[in-house]
Amino acid sequence: MKYDEIIVMKNGKEAHLRNAVESDGAVVVENFNLTHEETDYLLTYPEENSMDAKQEGEFLQKKADSDNEIEIIALVDGKVVGTAGIDAIGTKYKLKHRAEFGISVAKEYWGLGLGTALTNACIKCAKEAGYEQLELDAVADNKKAISLYEKAGFVEFGRNPKGFKSKFSGYQELVYMRLEL
Ligand SMILES: CC(C)(COP(=O)(O)OP(=O)(O)OC[C@H]1O[C@@H](n2cnc3c(N)ncnc32)[C@H](O)[C@@H]1OP(=O)(O)O)[C@@H](O)C(=O)NCCC(=O)NCCS
Repeated sequence: MKYDEIIVMKNGKEAHLRNAVESDGAVVVENFNLTHEETDYLLTYPEENSMDAKQEGEFLQKKADSDNEIEIIALVDGKVVGTAGIDAIGTKYKLKHRAEFGISVAKEYWGLGLGTALTNACIKCAKEAGYEQLELDAVADNKKAISLYEKAGFVEFGRNPKGFKSKFSGYQELVYMRLEL
């Protein structure tokens, strides 16, 4: 899928939100490793990222060429500072109405409205792709993310008390949320 939007952040500076393409592979891997180092609320540890720049580029181009999946990057002064995306949950008929949402913004840029803008961009794309339900899970302690999702209209539909097992903090409860599109 394709997306292209310029937004003004809370500090008055512009950010460019657009779908990532093959040539973004290296910078997206760099951003992934940074954001996944900065928080314990995401699934993957940086050392578990198995994709190199070339593989990431191919993965991103597949999304750009797809008609129901996308990875959107937020660029500030030409630098990738956040990513968000939607992935199909399945290709079988009974699952085709559902997509999964994921997001991360580099810590230096938190609180500037990028999370909200990226979430809204993904919701727009999910509607355009024809999905009926957008889903996510969030660590229960991640109040900021949960507040962002609630503002966007997501509602909780369950919890898994031992959803993640962090090597730093032990078990993390996961909150399952869904948004009807
Ligand atoms: C969660 C995350 C995506 C939010 O991104 P962001 O760019 O900081 O988001 P925004 O600036 O748009 O703020 C979104 C909302 O968070 C809340 N928020 C912002 N700063 C906050 C703070 N310091 N304390 C509590 N809530 C806060 C507000 O409700 C805000 O909405 P508002 O601007 O309408 O008041 C970002 O913190 C992040 O990437 N965290 C690490 C990775 C992660 O947790 N991803 C989600 C996994 S489920």
